[in-house]
Amino acid sequence: MTSNQDLIATPTAFDLAAYLTDRQPRVEAALDASIRPAYPDTIYAAMRYSLLAGGKRLRPILCLASCEAVGGDPDLALPMACALEMIHTMSLIHDDLPAMDNDDYRRGKLTNHKVYGDDIAILAGDGLLAYAFEYIATQTQGVSADRVLKAIAHLARAVGANGLVGGQVVDLESEGKSDISIETLIYIHNHKTGALFQSSVVCGAILAGATTAEIEKLAKFAQNIGLAFQIIDDILDITATGAELGKTAGKDVEAQKATYPKLWGLAESRHQADKLVAEAKTILAEFGDRALPLQALADYITDRKN
Ligand code: IPE
Ligand code: IPE
Ligand code: MG
Ligand code: MG
Ligand code: MG
Repeated sequence: MTSNQDLIATPTAFDLAAYLTDRQPRVEAALDASIRPAYPDTIYAAMRYSLLAGGKRLRPILCLASCEAVGGDPDLALPMACALEMIHTMSLIHDDLPAMDNDDYRRGKLTNHKVYGDDIAILAGDGLLAYAFEYIATQTQGVSADRVLKAIAHLARAVGANGLVGGQVVDLESEGKSDISIETLIYIHNHKTGALFQSSVVCGAILAGATTAEIEKLAKFAQNIGLAFQIIDDILDITATGAELGKTAGKDVEAQKATYPKLWGLAESRHQADKLVAEAKTILAEFGDRALPLQALADYITDRKN
C-alpha cells in the first residue's frame, strides 16, 4: 500500500560534487588555453598569474549550467564562460589594489600588485577585460551573430558604471559611514557582485536561444543568488579564517565597509541569504530536471565555506 509519504514528490537527487569535479577541470583547461604566455612577457604572466590561481569558477559554471537549463549544448557557451572568469579576475585584481581594498592575499596567493606592482596589476586587469570581449567575439562557434551581439551587450552593461563598476564606487564611498541605508547596501551588492552573476546566467541562456520568458526567470533567479552570494561573502569575512578563504579575513570591519552583518547581524544576514536562495529555486521549478545543476549551485552559494 502507498503511504502519503510516498506520494509527496521528492526532488531528484543531484550530485553537485560530481558535477563540479567534472566542470571545474574543464573550465581550468579552457582558461589555460585561452591566454598563452606571449610578448610582452610581464603582462601575459601577470594576467595568467591571477586567472589561473584557482577560485571556485562559479560564474563560468553558472553560465554553462544556464545554457543547459534551456536545452543548449554547453560548448556553445565555453568562450563566454572563460570571458566571465577573465572579467571576474580583473575585478578581483583591481579590488585588491591599495587604492581600493588594499589586500595582500587572493586565492591563497599574494595579490597581483604584490607580485607585479600596482602599474602592471592595473594593466593586467585592463588586459583581461579587453581580451574577454575579444574572446567571446572571435571564439564563440555555432551561435548566430545576433545572439552573440546580444550577449556581449548584456555583459558590457553588467560590468560598467550601471553594474559592477557602479557597485564598487558606492562600496568605496560608503566606507567609514555609519548611516548607510539598507537600500544603499542592496544597491552595492546587486551591482558590485549581482550584476556579473546575473549576466553569467543570462548570457548562457541567450547563446542557447532561450525565450524572453525563460531569460526573465533566469535573470530573477540569478539576481537572488548574486545578492545571497555577497551576503555570504560578508558573513565569511567575519566567521571564516584567512586560510579557509585564501584572502585576509576580518577586513570588512577593519575598513568599516557597509556589509549585511554590520547592518543586520550575522543571524539575520544568514536568514536573508537562505530566503533569497529558496525564492530563487522556486522560480526555476518549472524548468524541471534540466535546471538541477542551477538549483544545486544555488544551494552551494549559501552552504559554501569559502
Ligand atoms: C569573490 O568572488 C569576490 C566577490 C564577488 C565576493 P569569489 O568568492 O567567487 O572568488 P573566487 O573566484 O572563488 O576566488
Ligand atoms: C568584491 O567585493 C566585488 C568585486 C570584486 C567586484 P569584496 O571586496 O567584498 O570581495 P573580496 O571580499 O575582496 O573577495
Ligand atoms: Mg571590495
Ligand atoms: Mg575586497
Ligand atoms: Mg568581501
